[in-house]
Amino acid sequence: MSKRSSGMRIGILTAGGDCPGINAAIRGVGKTAIVKYGMTLIGISDGFTGMINKDYTELTEKDLSGILTLGGTILGTSREKPFKSSGKKNEIKKPDLIREHYEQLGLDCLVCIGGNGTLKTAHLLSQEGLNVVGIPKTIDNDVWGTDITFGFSSAVNIATEAIDRLHSTANSHKRIMLIELMGHNAGWIALYSGIASGGDVILIPEIPYKEEKIAEYLLHRAEENKPYSIVVVAEGVSNPLKDRSVAHYLSNRINEMTGLETRETVLGYIQRGGTPSPMDRVLATRYGTAAADMIADKDFGKMVALKNDEIVSVPLADVSGKLKLVEPDNPLVLQAKSMGTSFGI
Ligand code: F6P
Repeated sequence: MSKRSSGMRIGILTAGGDCPGINAAIRGVGKTAIVKYGMTLIGISDGFTGMINKDYTELTEKDLSGILTLGGTILGTSREKPFKSSGKKNEIKKPDLIREHYEQLGLDCLVCIGGNGTLKTAHLLSQEGLNVVGIPKTIDNDVWGTDITFGFSSAVNIATEAIDRLHSTANSHKRIMLIELMGHNAGWIALYSGIASGGDVILIPEIPYKEEKIAEYLLHRAEENKPYSIVVVAEGVSNPLKDRSVAHYLSNRINEMTGLETRETVLGYIQRGGTPSPMDRVLATRYGTAAADMIADKDFGKMVALKNDEIVSVPLADVSGKLKLVEPDNPLVLQAKSMGTSFGI
């Protein structure tokens, strides 16, 4: 046990949309902090809301047993953005409350597990003088500075299984089946699960589609006596409808333009729920243990990341405010194109 780090008190919170693997990361941080370094672990409830309301509980090593395989987050989460002003007069400055409670709790570091919004807040808190370590999580895989986030592998597994199931019913009814997947402004989930499940058309926000190209492609498949087609759509692609899903919009347009019977599915939160894949459990555990090592080394203001399968730390300043999107010439896109997959262009 390191003498330097023994006795350190670390807070840990999870913020933003949940994803499979968060509990594995909490366990990785906590077990390493407690067993290897003799630190004390304080679990903060519901993201930054818990820091504002001073809602917390100490977590012992025993509390971390049995959570590796659990979906969601044992700490709870919220989309609280403490640096966003409500615009009201005499508004209580939430960052000041967070700093006050950080000091009252005697914290030496705050571990923030989250996606882009959370990591931006973590960076701002670090600029306010708090010791912060970030851990990237999101099904969307859109955090800049890391090759991959945990949650992504589980979401791709779930989406792939869902698309696999659409193939048989599409074939029986000779239909076009369109499925909308999550991913916010990024197309990673649609790209990976579209390729994994043999999607015929993959639409992602990074490659703006043309409706007529989609229709042309689907009609060509029908002329070639292909009985059905699968269209995989990321939720972030352009949608002229304000109050209906893009799946609904495109399904109607395809039907109107081709005359082919089309059905839509919006997979939704099923992609975020449930048990993490083995790959996510391993990645989250690696991130968690590395974050505890960073704290022991007082390597603050950084995010743990994966680069070429090596764990590294990157400054939150470099990550904050950026998005990791699919490049239109990403090798996977080019490979899919070379096999005849349409990206609607
Ligand atoms: O960031 C994860 C994510 O599931 C996105 O894919 C999706 O756009 C968003 O969160 C949904 O957010 P909420 O949970 O606030 O509805």
